[in-house]
Amino acid sequence: MFRKVPRLNEAYIQRKCGNTAICFRSTTSTNEILKQYAKQNAPTDTVVVAEEQSAGRGRGDHTFFSPLGSGIYMSMLLHPKNHQFSPGAITAAAGVAACEAIERCSDVECSIKWMNDVYVDGKKVAGILAESGSFYPQGSDKPTEFTVVGIGFNVTLPKDGYPEEFAERASAIYGQKAPRFAREELVIAFFEDLKKWTALSEREIYSAYRKRLFVLGKTVTYEGREAVVSELADDFRLELTFSDGQKTLLDSREISLHQ
Ligand code: BTN
Repeated sequence: MFRKVPRLNEAYIQRKCGNTAICFRSTTSTNEILKQYAKQNAPTDTVVVAEEQSAGRGRGDHTFFSPLGSGIYMSMLLHPKNHQFSPGAITAAAGVAACEAIERCSDVECSIKWMNDVYVDGKKVAGILAESGSFYPQGSDKPTEFTVVGIGFNVTLPKDGYPEEFAERASAIYGQKAPRFAREELVIAFFEDLKKWTALSEREIYSAYRKRLFVLGKTVTYEGREAVVSELADDFRLELTFSDGQKTLLDSREISLHQ
C-alpha cells in the first residue's frame, strides 16, 4: 500500500546548517551534485541533502541503496586549506561524527567497521564515502582542492525489506518507526559533529576512531588467507597479521569478518 512520506523540513535544516543547505526530494547522488557545486566555488560546509537517490554510490563500484521514506542521504563540502588531514583522517572523522550524531538522536550505541561503515548490534546502519577533487577557479593557475563527505543513514527498515545483496548485514537506526523529525535531526547532528571533529587534531580523531573500531583482534579473510586484525596504523591503514607472522597494511579494501 502507498505510504505517504512527509517532505523534509528544509527551512529547519537551513536554519541549523547555514543557508547554503540544499534539499532535494530525489536526486541522482548527493556526492555528485555537491562535486558540481564545489567546482562552482561553493563555500565550505555547503550541504546537499536528498530524501531519495537514484544513483547512490558506495565505495569502489558498489551502489548505495537509497529509497524514499526509510533513509536520508547527505553530503558536506570541506576544503583541505582549512585543515591538514590525510584522506584516511577525514573518513575517520566522518565515522566518529556519524556515531556521535546517531547516538545523540537515538538510544543506540554505534561502532565502526573499518573503514567507513557504522554498525549497531552487528549490522550496518550508515555508510560513508569521502571523495576529493579540484578545479581551477577562473583566472587562477592554482587549483582549489575540495573533499565531499557523503553519508547515507538507514533511518527505518524499508517497507519491502533490503535487496538481497544487503539484507544479511543491513539494519536501521530506529527499526520500524522513527520520530517525526528524525531525518532532519540526523542531518543537523552530523553537520555539527563533522564540523567539530574536523576542527580537532588528527591524533584526537585517531584515538576516538580506534576506540569505536570493533574489528581489532578479529579474524578476517584477506585474499583467500586468514589473518588477525592486529592494529590500526597511524595513517588509518589496517594492519593484518597472518599465522606465519607476516604483516600487511590495507588502504581501503573490504574485509570479510569471520562470525
Ligand atoms: C558505502 O557504504 O560504501 C558508502 C556509502 C555512502 C553513501 C552516501 S549517501 C550520500 C552520498 N551520496 C552518494 O552517492 N553516496 C554517499
